[in-house]
Amino acid sequence: LKHFLTIEGLSAPLLTEILDTADSFVDMGAQQVKKVPLLRGKTVANLFFEASTRTLSTFELAAKRLSADVLNLNISTSSTSKGETLKDTLMTLRAMHCDMFVVRHSASGAAHFIAEHVTPDVAVINAGDGRHAHPTQAMLDMLTIRQHKGDFSSLKIAIVGDILHSRVARSQIHALRALGAAEIRVIAPLTLLPRHLEAMGVKVYTEMSRGLRDVDVIIMLRLQKERMQSALLPSESEFYKLYGLTEAKLAYARPDAIVMHPGPINRGVEIESSVADGERSVILNQVTNGIAVRMAVMSMAMSGQLKDNQLSAKA
Ligand code: CP
Repeated sequence: LKHFLTIEGLSAPLLTEILDTADSFVDMGAQQVKKVPLLRGKTVANLFFEASTRTLSTFELAAKRLSADVLNLNISTSSTSKGETLKDTLMTLRAMHCDMFVVRHSASGAAHFIAEHVTPDVAVINAGDGRHAHPTQAMLDMLTIRQHKGDFSSLKIAIVGDILHSRVARSQIHALRALGAAEIRVIAPLTLLPRHLEAMGVKVYTEMSRGLRDVDVIIMLRLQKERMQSALLPSESEFYKLYGLTEAKLAYARPDAIVMHPGPINRGVEIESSVADGERSVILNQVTNGIAVRMAVMSMAMSGQLKDNQLSAKA
């Protein structure tokens, strides 16, 4: 049994094995209807302490396609609203013989804490913790890039927007580095850039005209207002003017560049509708790939195939 908590520290062969396993589920039609018996007799509990559409739904579909029993705990109507602690909620679910917890939480490190200190005997999959990591999102993004562009070694990739608060960006950067992307760029105003990004092996730009020049992949990010102090909220119209991906700014990139966004998208804030819905957008492919990638991660966790020690890389 292994957990899946972060991309940081994982090897290229392991990440490639996850992508290859996900591709095999795509090939066998698992993204549509086909079921496989890999998690038959197992119970997966989805514990989302923060809102979600894509991640929760695709984890549920993935677990069902793996033939698991699935329990979605509605946190807002659960006994946490009566003051029950996270630990007691988890111990209660463990007593129901759940085999896997899929956890989304606003606190960075929540999934690590659960895996290490609360229920180490239950497989824990991180479905997004605070600003820290969203490893399955990064892997479905890698699958989408690989499907459209092939090998990573020649690719220039730009990640645009609220890098500071983005767990997705952090996980993508770790994945892209491990998989050998030629160039990883981030483009953002200084107020939305974390320090020491260069140490993560990325090039930093503050202007779209320079940062998007000749890139193969553009990944737009949502402004994470829920994680910002209100005094520091950027003006949406100003942000859109400078960093929103419009048709005009898209022209800086390669003519065959693809446009990605982990969602939820805010039209007219970080992306123009005609770009989000345009022929170079692969945003809905990303959503679909969430099923196969989450099937891959859950089946590999349950079979002990996640060989790297996920608890060695702390939040
Ligand atoms: N990308 C992502 O995590 O979307 P949800 O918040 O809808 O799950």
